[in-house]
Amino acid sequence: MGKVFVDLKKQVDYSYEITIGSGFIRDSLAVYIGEDCFYMVDDKVFNLYESLFPDDRVHRFKADEHNKTYESVVSVLGFLFRCGARRDGKLILVGGGITGDVGGFAAATYMRGIAFVQVPTTLLSMVDSSVGGKTGINFKGAKNNVGAFSQPKQVLIDMDFLKTLPDDEYLNGMAEVIKYGVVYDAEFLEYLYENKDKLLNRDTETLDYVVTCCCRMKADVVKKDEKETGERALLNFGHTFAHAIETDSHHEVKHGFAVAVGMYQETEFAYKNKLADEKTLNDVKRVLTAYGFPITYEIRDREVFFHAMTADKKADKKGLTLAISPSTGTGKLVKNISIEKIRDYYSQI
Ligand SMILES: NC(=O)c1ccc[n+]([C@@H]2O[C@H](COP(=O)([O-])OP(=O)(O)OC[C@H]3O[C@@H](n4cnc5c(N)ncnc54)[C@H](O)[C@@H]3O)[C@@H](O)[C@H]2O)c1
Ligand SMILES: [Zn+2]
Repeated sequence: MGKVFVDLKKQVDYSYEITIGSGFIRDSLAVYIGEDCFYMVDDKVFNLYESLFPDDRVHRFKADEHNKTYESVVSVLGFLFRCGARRDGKLILVGGGITGDVGGFAAATYMRGIAFVQVPTTLLSMVDSSVGGKTGINFKGAKNNVGAFSQPKQVLIDMDFLKTLPDDEYLNGMAEVIKYGVVYDAEFLEYLYENKDKLLNRDTETLDYVVTCCCRMKADVVKKDEKETGERALLNFGHTFAHAIETDSHHEVKHGFAVAVGMYQETEFAYKNKLADEKTLNDVKRVLTAYGFPITYEIRDREVFFHAMTADKKADKKGLTLAISPSTGTGKLVKNISIEKIRDYYSQI
């Protein structure tokens, strides 16, 4: 029996740049209007910003969690195929996280992978989903369980898109912004508290600073742990409990609002189990309430709630892994947390 070694240690360099600013997107997108470029655009964004896009080679997509499907990927592939896109073609994804995730996955598979550019238009996609190369869809009722790691060629963030974003979508993104502060940077969390009026009024300069900070933190963690074998899972802070809230409320509680409650309750759980200090709990509460986020949730069906928590991708036989900040800005992963402990916590609040 012989063996042959496939040496892949010399990795391809997938590095890319994130450009952040305002009022520049018209010029930047103009670079991508050519034979080799194809657009996938969130339908609402297309209607609001029609003049930014070319007359043809545009695939309009209704961004909706129910459309984050295999069928949507197939329709993007069909669009690329009909347009005659080749291996050197580029797909420009303009929209929120759903457009980016579905379009990125289509780009990752068309001709075994073509280049794509992320042009995020929601706060959430600017600070989180457009960076880091996680692409994918929901399959058989489970969220983001089919997909691929595939990094974009470039990310273009124009803050001007945020001017048309509905309030609840804006706050959805703000919950993720707060998450970065709790997990990575106490000073940044304080900045968010001090500048809440400017941020709630969507002041461009303040937003520019905040989005840049978040992208830096995200880029840093992706550099260390691209495929989420460890540290990248810190970005799931608040999301384990949030997932149960979203499921139990039949998604009536929107993601960011569920994450807000999740961040508070995971921290309170940690505090009660001597895994986090009281100041952290107070910091989390103070910032979340400053932005008007709720920090409590009335469980409708306990079985549904706890089942959703254990069905989470982060759970295994020994228990759950939670991202916890023992003190503000110092997130770490705590493994093997038993679901009984979590049930105990919920029976006492
Ligand atoms: N890939 C990752 O690393 C990652 C990280 C976090 C979240 N996600 C995924 O991101 C998705 C959520 O992303 P999202 O919050 O951006 O949702 P989304 O893409 O559904 O956009 C939210 C809503 O805002 C509208 N919209 C987008 N831009 C607009 C604009 N500029 N003006 C007016 N309306 C606009 C959209 O049409 C949609 O109705 C989830 O599916 C989640 O799983 C992925
Ligand atoms: Zn999230």
